[in-house]
Amino acid sequence: MRKPIIAGNWKMNKTPEEAAQLVRDLIPLVKDAKCDVVVCTPAVNFAAVKPVIEGTNIKLGAQNVHFKASGAYTGELSADMLKAAGCEYVIIGHSERRQYFGETDKTVNLRTIAAVKAGLKAIVCVGEMKDEREAGYTDMIVMYQTQMALHGLTAEELDNVVIAYEPVWAIGTGLTATDEQANETIGVIRKAIAYKFGQEAADKIRIQYGGSMKGSNVKGLMAQPEIDGGLIGGASLKAEDFAQVVNF
Ligand code: PGA
Repeated sequence: MRKPIIAGNWKMNKTPEEAAQLVRDLIPLVKDAKCDVVVCTPAVNFAAVKPVIEGTNIKLGAQNVHFKASGAYTGELSADMLKAAGCEYVIIGHSERRQYFGETDKTVNLRTIAAVKAGLKAIVCVGEMKDEREAGYTDMIVMYQTQMALHGLTAEELDNVVIAYEPVWAIGTGLTATDEQANETIGVIRKAIAYKFGQEAADKIRIQYGGSMKGSNVKGLMAQPEIDGGLIGGASLKAEDFAQVVNF
């Protein structure tokens, strides 16, 4: 019932020329994908990537958005700017932004509201740190982060939200949550959404797994009933690697 969505998070990689080449290579490899396919590239690459993917099944995404429409916010980009540049999606609250750039549950919430109100689709990231999992706090953390991020949205607006469950200890480390761990925690996130927005909204919302997801483990993860896709870092930087995930 939920259409899977595989999104590449290129992080701080690729120049405009390299970005255009990567999507050119990707187009024939993913043209028959049964899932939604998104590439979240650095903003300097939008202009190079957009014309290349025009008319294909690949959608453009950004990696962050500011919550104000305009103003004195040096270095930031507004939702309207992202839309005007051709973005359909935006990643919000990635753990690297939370860890290195002072992102909080409050700012994740503000950014999510701004993105959705402007007509973007938000990919909202939640996930526990290693010590939090070891201490048994995973469920509490992801429920709290999810409910805080979505606070103030309506159930209808959740149609434009995707959640990415990314255990921080699995990002870029080669460690993946087991299929069962990922499925179980995503089930907890879905329950948190049901509690706040009702069962129908919870049944509809797509929840991805992210954290060292790649060609060799995508099948097992995607076979889990709660997992609706992936947010892919390292394995999204080469067309063949990303295509393997997309064509799970
Ligand atoms: P990874 O990154 O696939 O390299 O672990 C995932 C992410 O951070 O979104």
